[in-house]
Amino acid sequence: MRMDRIKLPNKRYGTLPEAGGIYEIAALADMLEENGKKIYHLEIGRPDFDSPQIAKDAAKEALDRGFVHYPDTRGILQLRQALSRKLKRENRMEVSPDDVLITIGAQTGIMAIMLTILDEGDEVIIPTPCFGPYAEDCRLLGGVVVPAPCAMEDGFTLKASNIEPLVTGRTKIIVVNSPNNPTGAVIPRFELEKIAEIAKKHDLLVVSDECYERFIYAGEHASIASLPGMDDRTITVGTASKTYSMTGWRLGYMSLPSWLTNHVGRTHRGLAICAASFAQYGYASALDNAEEDVIKMLNEYRERRNIVTGYLERMEDIDFATPDGAFYIFPSIKRTGISSPEFCRYILEEAGVAIVPGEAFEAPGFVRIAYCQPKEHLTEAMELMRSALSKLKVKNRVLLPEKYESEEKNVLRSKAARGSNYQGHDEKVRHRNENN
Ligand SMILES: Cc1ncc(COP(=O)(O)O)c(C=O)c1O
Repeated sequence: MRMDRIKLPNKRYGTLPEAGGIYEIAALADMLEENGKKIYHLEIGRPDFDSPQIAKDAAKEALDRGFVHYPDTRGILQLRQALSRKLKRENRMEVSPDDVLITIGAQTGIMAIMLTILDEGDEVIIPTPCFGPYAEDCRLLGGVVVPAPCAMEDGFTLKASNIEPLVTGRTKIIVVNSPNNPTGAVIPRFELEKIAEIAKKHDLLVVSDECYERFIYAGEHASIASLPGMDDRTITVGTASKTYSMTGWRLGYMSLPSWLTNHVGRTHRGLAICAASFAQYGYASALDNAEEDVIKMLNEYRERRNIVTGYLERMEDIDFATPDGAFYIFPSIKRTGISSPEFCRYILEEAGVAIVPGEAFEAPGFVRIAYCQPKEHLTEAMELMRSALSKLKVKNRVLLPEKYESEEKNVLRSKAARGSNYQGHDEKVRHRNENN
């Protein structure tokens, strides 16, 4: 069906990338799996652990006690109090429960912030490689993405000296994400101090996404909001998804300067009303009682990281920086001579290993490996990847099997896109042509 009045994409929706995203590779992986191929899912940042039992028990109990209605739209007090304690204990931040908002995962928090703050043409400094939605949300709202490049040679760490020249009269926000998705880079405290000075000097808001704060293998996590003079100009974003392996519960939070809380809260209410009531009891319980679960996950991730880096070190034409945090690694595949989408499709079809092209993170030439799988799976996946890579003939350039040489020949991809919720590039183009 089509409607003449409705022209897709509209100005905003049309800013979303057409291809190259995580869900596109996931759809292709699913299709191959349905056709009987063994697939190793290293594409989505979805921890494989069960959620803490203590969280499940508390959520079940809340359900049984009848907490099935709209709660306080800011989030239940018990959870906001638990987060206020956690921010003091772990992040050296003094935040009243009144300035904590519970969101539908960190994702709606980030959107609510940008919706509240940005006018068309406003600039957001985003360290790249970056979590795709920062840039997507900004563009969707008519904002301008100003990338602050983080080089692999520097371990992908954000450097304050790269930020200052980017500040203009239209800059509103600096995004900080440590540990970083997709690189795993951790920003050292001294660098955060310099970034804080820039924010103060130019009167900028900092949005600090600390979703991976508990997964650090070297160095320490520091919250920029805890630095002198920063609590009034920083929004800290966090989530239950990663720390407690609770991605499906859809719970995150923001800690805000008091002058912003009601405004961003109103926007979030417009987007989502509130987060699920009974689930919030589970998150509150995890914050107070699930430290052992977190430590177990941290130790396991550290071992997994070592497995992956061990294999990458032995792979020809692959360069990488060892990540200090999160559960991702972001190798450069530039020396293979092929593009990252081609590389990912080759590795998926040849080795059955699903990984994501750097384009999804504003960084072509790289791929993201998420080590959210058990060690045995990771070992098998990396072994298969190593052997697929060694099949590539290297002369002056890489000669791939014929089917990978041309975009047009790759029918598999469009088939996969059709068979999933993700509407892939080919379909979107067809859709657009039909509408124009
Ligand atoms: C850096 C970062 N921020 C935010 C999110 C969103 O997480 P959620 O909405 O599940 O809390 C993710 C998810 O992968 C992420 O990597």
